[in-house]
Amino acid sequence: SELLLLNGPNLGILGRREPEIYGTDTLDDIVAAVGAEVAERGWKVVSVQRESEGQLIEAVHDAYEGVGAIVNPGALMIAGWGLRDALAAYPRPWIEVHLSNVWARETFRHESVLAPIASGVIVGLGSLGYRLAAQALLAKVPRP
Ligand code: DQA
Repeated sequence: SELLLLNGPNLGILGRREPEIYGTDTLDDIVAAVGAEVAERGWKVVSVQRESEGQLIEAVHDAYEGVGAIVNPGALMIAGWGLRDALAAYPRPWIEVHLSNVWARETFRHESVLAPIASGVIVGLGSLGYRLAAQALLAKVPRP
């Protein structure tokens, strides 16, 4: 059983990307934390981080057989219509995560085109948000 951990543009440089906003955890730290969270269920984390929308869309297409997904779209939250269409067709539950509290920031970050079709959204809790999203998926996906 595979859990897709999908991160969009500029999230591969976490740790050194505006740490006062995004914290000091690296993407590797986050992958490890999510992996630890879902290990008891025997889920394997498949982490995909890409800078471009097309490659993120392909990763969604490739994950249809998985258990669910955690998605931080980065700035694609603002106009990632192709990614939104891919996730609309994705047959599993998925949770949108933003490290920062987007509503406390610039107004262009106040609306996500993905959020209306997500199972849930977690914002502003830093890397803990990914762990909480993993717990939410564990609760949402019934044991076989
Ligand atoms: C982000 C918030 C987005 O607005 C921004 O473009 C990012 C990171 C977050 O995790 O807080 O790249 O998704």
